[in-house]
Amino acid sequence: MPLVPMKAILDATDKFNYAQGAFNVNAVAQAKAVIEVHEMFRSAAILQGADLANGFMGGRVDFGNATLEDKKKGAINIANAVKKYAETSPIPIALHLDHGKDLDSCIAAIDGGYTSVMIDGSSLPFKDNIELTREVVKYAHERGVTVEGELGVLAGVEDHVFSAESTYTNPLDAVEFFKKTGVDALAISYGTMHGANKGRDTVIRKEIAIATKECMRHENIEGTLVSHGSSTVPQYIVKEINELGGDIRDAHGISMQQLKEVSKLGIGKINVDTDIRLAVTRNLRELFKNRPELQKSETVGDIYKLLTENKSAFDPRIFLPPIMDTVMFGTVPNDAIGAVVSCIEKGVKEVVGTLIIEFESFGKAYLVECISLDEMAQRYKKKGI
Ligand code: G3H
Ligand code: ZN
Repeated sequence: MPLVPMKAILDATDKFNYAQGAFNVNAVAQAKAVIEVHEMFRSAAILQGADLANGFMGGRVDFGNATLEDKKKGAINIANAVKKYAETSPIPIALHLDHGKDLDSCIAAIDGGYTSVMIDGSSLPFKDNIELTREVVKYAHERGVTVEGELGVLAGVEDHVFSAESTYTNPLDAVEFFKKTGVDALAISYGTMHGANKGRDTVIRKEIAIATKECMRHENIEGTLVSHGSSTVPQYIVKEINELGGDIRDAHGISMQQLKEVSKLGIGKINVDTDIRLAVTRNLRELFKNRPELQKSETVGDIYKLLTENKSAFDPRIFLPPIMDTVMFGTVPNDAIGAVVSCIEKGVKEVVGTLIIEFESFGKAYLVECISLDEMAQRYKKKGI
């Protein structure tokens, strides 16, 4: 079926009180794996490409310097692949831009085929954040595309999004933000943090989610609250990476128990990127240990070199530049690349499968309304948003 707007998937989480994991991808093989594992568990799927991930998937190896042109290319590459898989898929699938930097990046994603965008104005003053988000909502809703905003600042690093400290979201500001922007979803800051170094025993301030949701109910505001920075950083994966020659230190995530709790308290979307990065890194290291002949392979030997040169890295974008055609288009021209692709897919499925079960989206694909972008655009028009 065609891709659905993310709102269709989020509405079901609100109505039936569960959470949907939203999983970051940086390559076509990762998108394929995310979709396949959701199909296996009969869950709807939210795939997200971060702003700079689009740059990478547009062929920009130094993705930190990605231009708008690179992002446009990457958005088209990943959207084409996801649309192709979705055609024959029995589950509803949404493709979402994660941490869109500005209006142009959001437009690039929407025009490329994304069915949902996040505009991250969280570093701006409240009024400017509202103004920017409102502009994105106007462009997106006319096309039936979902919009997520952000209010409050998360600590940690994720691509160009960095902050040393967090500022928690004020529930009353959140209500005003929903009203003035018309966003469908809002990322709140309530104690989670981007990256693998969230600190030991991080406590989520769940009262912030509860209070925000309660204030929204009083004001009759429809909308989904989003938990960013929610990787659990599985300790067994970190240990295995280090045993395989990696050097990952002080890595701690959010406890599964807290995520499960907030999924029943108003959080409908839970973002996970770091856990996938870790599992894929572990699998790549393991592959070259188990198949030493690949270390000297003409096509994938350079991936091994990058792994040995970057022991503390766990971002697949650091390791995959030697196979950019595969990253961008999913091509598998020989057995060596096939082995790399297979270990990427397995890493994604291990992490994503676990979270589909823990967040309880399994078996719930049928609860999602399969609405087209055009129909959704009509609904927004009727409501005047
Ligand atoms: O936007 C993506 C998520 O917020 C990533 O969070 O670093 O905990 O995986 P994470
Ligand atoms: Zn995030």
